[in-house]
Amino acid sequence: MEKRKINIAIDGHSSAGKSTMAKSLAKELNFVYVDTGAMYRAAALFCIKERLVETNEIDSSKVEVALDRMYVGFKYNPKSERTEIHLGGVNVADEVRSMEVSRKVSLVAAIPAVRHKLVDLQQRMAENGGVVMDGRDIGTVVIPHAEVKFFITADPEIRAGRRLKEIQLTQPDCQLNEVLNNILERDRIDSNRSASPLRQAKDAIVLDNSHLSQDEQLAFLLTHVRKAMAGA
Ligand code: DC
Repeated sequence: MEKRKINIAIDGHSSAGKSTMAKSLAKELNFVYVDTGAMYRAAALFCIKERLVETNEIDSSKVEVALDRMYVGFKYNPKSERTEIHLGGVNVADEVRSMEVSRKVSLVAAIPAVRHKLVDLQQRMAENGGVVMDGRDIGTVVIPHAEVKFFITADPEIRAGRRLKEIQLTQPDCQLNEVLNNILERDRIDSNRSASPLRQAKDAIVLDNSHLSQDEQLAFLLTHVRKAMAGA
């Protein structure tokens, strides 16, 4: 009988490069990558489209009722060779990266009913192992029994600089200040919300990648994963 594959949980601060590392790890190990941030972004887009969110306020009881109409999932696109996030059957992979969604997503992600619905989906995805999942509460709430847990962070200015480069590909007028403020605000809300706040799991391995190349980071993560696989 084939041995059950392990699960890998990656948590950490916004724009710390979690998804880049999670994708590389999944590719290297032939595991499935699950970007839970994209699921919360899709939920935020849903709330924007349904006009449930104003600048800084959200009516969580209205969101709760509307959630029955929210269908979030992933679909592999053979053309782009990417697994893309879908909302109501429509590919929203680019739309969920907009600054408007980034500004609203922490508000939406703080609603317990939203988290409940998405965590349930995430747990089903991880049921059979072989998953690299990244987010904020993966090692603490979604898969607390994951065999390997990482917590990735970096200096806020360095994170903002990296994110700006990505955003400027589609929004060339975007400024560093705006991105830095958004990152700091999301860190604040994500760490202080009452529903599953961003926390480092007690058994997580911390990686501060402020001054590391992607190859150095991947080597670090793989060393720990291989050790866990050998012992699994
Ligand atoms: O990883 P990201 O920046 O794409 O995530 C978008 C937002 O979603 C982030 O501000 C916090 C929230 N999030 C969360 O609350 N829990 C997760 N597991 C993943 C993301």
